[in-house]
Amino acid sequence: MSAYVNEPLDPDKHDRAAFSCGNEALDRYLKERANQEISKDIAKIYVLRRQESPTTIVGYYSLSAYSVETMRLPEQVVKKLPRYNQLPAILLGRLALHVSYHGQKLGEILLADALSRSLRISGEIGAMAVLVDAKDERAARFYEHYGFCRFHDAPHSLFLTMAEIRKLGINKGSGSF
Ligand SMILES: CC(C)(COP(=O)(O)OP(=O)(O)OC[C@H]1O[C@@H](n2cnc3c(N)ncnc32)[C@H](O)[C@@H]1OP(=O)(O)O)[C@@H](O)C(=O)NCCC(=O)NCCS
Repeated sequence: MSAYVNEPLDPDKHDRAAFSCGNEALDRYLKERANQEISKDIAKIYVLRRQESPTTIVGYYSLSAYSVETMRLPEQVVKKLPRYNQLPAILLGRLALHVSYHGQKLGEILLADALSRSLRISGEIGAMAVLVDAKDERAARFYEHYGFCRFHDAPHSLFLTMAEIRKLGINKGSGSF
């Protein structure tokens, strides 16, 4: 059995105040905006926690419906797609791990959960890619490490097509690729 659990953020249960990832904006989002964004259907937020610690947040990520302008995607990606101005996508708006857990590949567990959830969602409603807006160059390289491609017009924005996610064969049980 996995030592970690992924579940939807429950503001009454999870201790958002204790979360600290090293990036103030990402901490503040969880503490001050997450609750409202969930209730207003702007984003859904999922947390990673240790099995034996129900309230402590190890990491979190957010997902929202999104669209991408077709002209921003490379020709090899769009060449077989209908020429709509925009294409449906999923935004991985934020992803962060508590500082005490950095460097242990738990970011991979969070990302694998976000991508496998996105794949499941794309079985219900069309979405041809997952997009991320990385906070900085270091974060952008983290996503590149897992196969994301940069947009030429915004190098800290990256995407991974659903077709590529499907090929990754994410192992839900271990939370790894
Ligand atoms: C970015 C973050 C999620 C990384 O998670 P992590 O579990 O600490 O990542 P790890 O250091 O264990 O690395 C996991 C893998 O990603 C790779 N990786 C991590 N950061 C990388 C980087 N900047 N460039 C290239 N590869 C990177 C590692 O080499 C490792 O791969 P390997 O096992 O093949 O060697 C985490 O550090 C974090 O939450 N930082 C603060 C918030 C943030 O920057 N979020 C980014 C989204 S905006």
